[in-house]
Amino acid sequence: AVPVILDCDPGHDDAFNILLAAAHPAVELLAITTVAGNQTVEKTTLNARRVCAAAGIRGVPIAAGRARPLRGPGRVAADIHGASGLDGPGFGTGEPDVPQDPRDALTLLRDTLLAHPEPVTLVPTGPLTNIAVLLLAHPELAARVARIVLMGGSTERGNTTPAAEFNILCDPEAADIVLRSGLPVTMFGLNATHQVRATPEVVARIDALGTPLSRLCVDLLTYFASTYREVFGFDAPPLHDPLTVAHLIDPAVSGLARAAVAVELNGTYTRGATVVDLHGVTGLPATVDVATDVDADRFWDLIVAAVRTLGGP
Ligand code: BDR
Ligand code: CA
Repeated sequence: AVPVILDCDPGHDDAFNILLAAAHPAVELLAITTVAGNQTVEKTTLNARRVCAAAGIRGVPIAAGRARPLRGPGRVAADIHGASGLDGPGFGTGEPDVPQDPRDALTLLRDTLLAHPEPVTLVPTGPLTNIAVLLLAHPELAARVARIVLMGGSTERGNTTPAAEFNILCDPEAADIVLRSGLPVTMFGLNATHQVRATPEVVARIDALGTPLSRLCVDLLTYFASTYREVFGFDAPPLHDPLTVAHLIDPAVSGLARAAVAVELNGTYTRGATVVDLHGVTGLPATVDVATDVDADRFWDLIVAAVRTLGGP
């Protein structure tokens, strides 16, 4: 199994990535670290614990990371993910019975990388703050990282500004550090993730599982569909983040193209844009595997199977 640390900001689509990583035997989920993004880090951490509690995911340490980007005040995506960051199911006010690890995310990342006998794959699906801080604070640990498989950016336009995707726009300096780290990076941008839409047919397949977990997933997808309809006018919402773990499980889920990727840090209108040089015109070294065509059926089969596995008989 591929040893993995999820670094996330749940977040509806992050939540499904947790389920996929925990459910599939091809992945060994070592730890979950959280970051401010879709909501404050307090909320994304609570949400990670709620998802694990609801899905019976126990024994995976969950630690809170950075509350703010490397520069500036930060932003949240309450318009998409709600005031809680995971609106829809109505989790109530009770404490989930999955604890928060007393360590901070940087310490948990470090401890986990050092303890594991093989290099570990990092899967960031929020702003890249925690990963950049790790690489800045512990450059020697880069050798313990097998690769970075992230959701962020796009080969095309953005979703938060015309040019920039949310995760990259939240912390462009962190994204720049990660993309220039020299580590192997695979990037699932909006051009790929917009190919996996949670259509009514998909929601019906999950609903048909008939378990408490499947009902929770339907509630998440129903809320996510309503905000995507309101904000973007989409018929069905793209379930961005789980393409990362799906790729680790089954590389046939997505095509990849090797390209140079730069992050715009200064543009008047384009800060946070990923400039993806698919045709090799910049002369920059092509170091990133950029996701292209996606096999949506393969992807949804993995998601449905994960909800079935964790939901119990
Ligand atoms: C990304 O932004 C977040 O709202 C989602 O969780 C995803 O990681 C998509 O732009
Ligand atoms: Ca996310």
